[in-house]
Amino acid sequence: MGHRVDHEYDYLFKIVLIGDSGVGKSNILSMFTRNEFCLESKSTIGVEFATRTLQVDGKTVKAQIWDTAGSGARWLRELRDHADSNIVIMMAGNKSDLKHLRAVQEQDGLAFAEKEGLSFLETSALEGTNIEKAFQTILTEIY
Ligand code: GTP
Ligand code: MG
Repeated sequence: MGHRVDHEYDYLFKIVLIGDSGVGKSNILSMFTRNEFCLESKSTIGVEFATRTLQVDGKTVKAQIWDTAGSGARWLRELRDHADSNIVIMMAGNKSDLKHLRAVQEQDGLAFAEKEGLSFLETSALEGTNIEKAFQTILTEIY
Protein backbone atom coordinates (compact mmCIF):
# COMPACT_ATOMS: atom_id res chain seq x y z
CA MET A 1 0.00 0.00 0.00
CA GLY A 2 1.30 3.40 -0.94
CA HIS A 3 2.10 6.05 1.56
CA ARG A 4 -0.26 8.97 1.29
CA VAL A 5 1.01 12.46 1.96
CA ASP A 6 -1.64 14.90 3.10
CA HIS A 7 -1.20 18.21 1.37
CA GLU A 8 -2.59 21.36 2.85
CA TYR A 9 -4.03 22.36 -0.54
CA ASP A 10 -4.54 21.05 -4.07
CA TYR A 11 -3.26 24.16 -5.84
CA LEU A 12 -1.20 27.21 -5.00
CA PHE A 13 -2.14 30.25 -7.09
CA LYS A 14 -0.39 33.60 -7.00
CA ILE A 15 -2.29 36.85 -7.38
CA VAL A 16 -0.70 40.28 -7.67
CA LEU A 17 -2.68 43.43 -6.90
CA ILE A 18 -1.63 46.38 -9.04
CA GLY A 19 -3.05 49.83 -9.64
CA ASP A 20 -2.60 53.47 -8.78
CA SER A 21 -1.69 54.54 -5.26
CA GLY A 22 -4.69 54.98 -2.99
CA VAL A 23 -7.24 52.95 -4.96
CA GLY A 24 -7.54 50.44 -2.11
CA LYS A 25 -5.34 47.45 -3.02
CA SER A 26 -4.12 46.90 0.54
CA ASN A 27 -7.64 47.10 1.94
CA ILE A 28 -8.97 44.66 -0.66
CA LEU A 29 -6.24 42.29 0.50
CA SER A 30 -6.86 42.80 4.24
CA MET A 31 -10.62 42.45 3.74
CA PHE A 32 -10.23 39.20 1.82
CA THR A 33 -7.60 37.62 4.06
CA ARG A 34 -8.44 39.04 7.51
CA ASN A 35 -11.88 40.64 7.18
CA GLU A 36 -10.28 43.92 8.20
CA PHE A 37 -10.72 47.40 6.74
CA CYS A 38 -8.64 50.41 7.75
CA LEU A 39 -9.84 53.96 7.08
CA GLU A 40 -6.36 55.41 7.51
CA SER A 41 -4.06 52.83 5.98
CA LYS A 42 -0.52 53.84 5.10
CA SER A 43 0.81 53.66 1.58
CA THR A 44 2.48 50.32 0.90
CA ILE A 45 6.27 50.40 0.64
CA GLY A 46 7.75 47.71 -1.58
CA VAL A 47 5.70 44.51 -1.59
CA GLU A 48 3.68 42.70 1.06
CA PHE A 49 1.81 39.44 0.85
CA ALA A 50 -0.87 37.45 2.62
CA THR A 51 -2.56 34.12 1.96
CA ARG A 52 -5.96 32.56 2.27
CA THR A 53 -7.01 29.00 1.54
CA LEU A 54 -10.46 28.49 0.06
CA GLN A 55 -12.55 26.12 -2.03
CA VAL A 56 -12.71 26.67 -5.79
CA ASP A 57 -14.71 24.19 -7.86
CA GLY A 58 -14.41 21.64 -5.05
CA LYS A 59 -10.63 21.94 -4.83
CA THR A 60 -8.66 23.44 -1.99
CA VAL A 61 -6.79 26.41 -3.39
CA LYS A 62 -4.25 28.42 -1.50
CA ALA A 63 -4.21 31.98 -2.82
CA GLN A 64 -0.94 33.78 -2.24
CA ILE A 65 -1.72 37.44 -2.81
CA TRP A 66 0.97 40.02 -3.39
CA ASP A 67 0.20 43.64 -2.67
CA THR A 68 2.35 46.17 -4.51
CA ALA A 69 2.93 49.87 -3.97
CA GLY A 70 0.88 51.98 -6.35
CA SER A 71 2.50 52.58 -9.70
CA GLY A 72 1.82 54.82 -12.69
CA ALA A 73 -1.12 54.75 -15.04
CA ARG A 74 0.58 52.43 -17.50
CA TRP A 75 0.33 49.37 -15.28
CA LEU A 76 -1.81 47.31 -17.66
CA ARG A 77 0.58 47.94 -20.57
CA GLU A 78 3.58 47.11 -18.37
CA LEU A 79 1.92 43.95 -17.13
CA ARG A 80 1.25 42.80 -20.67
CA ASP A 81 4.80 43.67 -21.75
CA HIS A 82 6.65 42.03 -18.87
CA ALA A 83 4.50 39.23 -17.46
CA ASP A 84 4.01 35.69 -18.78
CA SER A 85 1.34 35.67 -21.49
CA ASN A 86 -0.56 32.91 -19.64
CA ILE A 87 -1.47 35.10 -16.70
CA VAL A 88 -5.09 35.92 -15.95
CA ILE A 89 -5.89 39.59 -15.41
CA MET A 90 -9.04 40.98 -13.90
CA MET A 91 -10.04 44.55 -13.14
CA ALA A 92 -11.68 45.76 -9.96
CA GLY A 93 -13.27 49.21 -9.76
CA ASN A 94 -12.90 49.79 -6.02
CA LYS A 95 -14.63 52.21 -3.61
CA SER A 96 -18.05 51.57 -5.12
CA ASP A 97 -19.49 52.74 -1.79
CA LEU A 98 -18.47 56.35 -2.57
CA LYS A 99 -21.47 56.83 -4.82
CA HIS A 100 -21.44 60.64 -4.77
CA LEU A 101 -17.75 60.69 -5.79
CA ARG A 102 -17.99 58.20 -8.64
CA ALA A 103 -15.08 58.87 -11.03
CA VAL A 104 -15.74 56.20 -13.67
CA GLN A 105 -19.23 55.35 -14.91
CA GLU A 106 -19.99 51.64 -14.65
CA GLN A 107 -20.61 51.41 -18.40
CA ASP A 108 -17.21 53.02 -19.11
CA GLY A 109 -15.51 50.50 -16.80
CA LEU A 110 -17.36 47.67 -18.52
CA ALA A 111 -16.46 48.97 -21.98
CA PHE A 112 -12.76 49.27 -21.05
CA ALA A 113 -12.73 45.77 -19.57
CA GLU A 114 -14.44 44.36 -22.64
CA LYS A 115 -12.00 46.10 -24.99
CA GLU A 116 -9.06 44.73 -22.99
CA GLY A 117 -10.60 41.27 -22.52
CA LEU A 118 -10.69 41.47 -18.72
CA SER A 119 -13.24 40.35 -16.16
CA PHE A 120 -14.58 43.35 -14.28
CA LEU A 121 -16.31 43.89 -10.96
CA GLU A 122 -17.02 47.00 -8.95
CA THR A 123 -15.87 46.38 -5.38
CA SER A 124 -15.86 48.05 -2.00
CA ALA A 125 -13.27 46.98 0.55
CA LEU A 126 -15.09 49.18 3.06
CA GLU A 127 -18.44 47.41 2.70
CA GLY A 128 -16.98 44.10 1.60
CA THR A 129 -18.95 44.26 -1.65
CA ASN A 130 -17.77 41.80 -4.32
CA ILE A 131 -14.44 41.15 -2.57
CA GLU A 132 -15.13 37.42 -2.23
CA LYS A 133 -16.61 37.32 -5.71
CA ALA A 134 -13.58 39.05 -7.26
CA PHE A 135 -11.13 36.52 -5.83
CA GLN A 136 -13.45 33.59 -6.59
CA THR A 137 -13.70 34.87 -10.18
CA ILE A 138 -9.97 35.17 -10.77
CA LEU A 139 -9.15 31.91 -8.97
CA THR A 140 -11.76 30.11 -11.05
CA GLU A 141 -10.30 31.62 -14.21
CA ILE A 142 -6.80 30.49 -13.19
CA TYR A 143 -8.12 27.04 -12.30
P1 GTP B 1 -0.79 52.24 -2.12
O1 GTP B 1 -0.29 51.27 -1.10
O2 GTP B 1 -0.26 53.62 -1.92
O3 GTP B 1 -0.56 51.76 -3.55
O4 GTP B 1 -2.40 52.38 -1.95
P2 GTP B 1 -3.48 51.22 -1.89
O5 GTP B 1 -4.03 51.00 -3.28
O6 GTP B 1 -2.98 50.03 -1.17
O7 GTP B 1 -4.68 51.92 -1.06
P3 GTP B 1 -5.12 51.59 0.45
O8 GTP B 1 -5.71 50.23 0.57
O9 GTP B 1 -4.03 51.93 1.37
O10 GTP B 1 -6.35 52.63 0.60
C1 GTP B 1 -6.17 54.03 0.44
C2 GTP B 1 -7.30 54.77 1.15
O11 GTP B 1 -8.56 54.43 0.55
C3 GTP B 1 -7.42 54.41 2.63
O12 GTP B 1 -7.78 55.59 3.32
C4 GTP B 1 -8.55 53.40 2.68
O13 GTP B 1 -9.26 53.43 3.90
C5 GTP B 1 -9.45 53.89 1.53
N1 GTP B 1 -10.23 52.81 0.89
C6 GTP B 1 -9.77 51.62 0.43
N2 GTP B 1 -10.76 50.90 -0.10
C7 GTP B 1 -11.90 51.62 0.05
C8 GTP B 1 -13.28 51.41 -0.30
O14 GTP B 1 -13.70 50.39 -0.85
N3 GTP B 1 -14.15 52.43 0.00
C9 GTP B 1 -13.73 53.58 0.61
N4 GTP B 1 -14.67 54.49 0.88
N5 GTP B 1 -12.46 53.81 0.95
C10 GTP B 1 -11.55 52.85 0.67
MG1 MG C 1 -1.14 49.62 -0.34
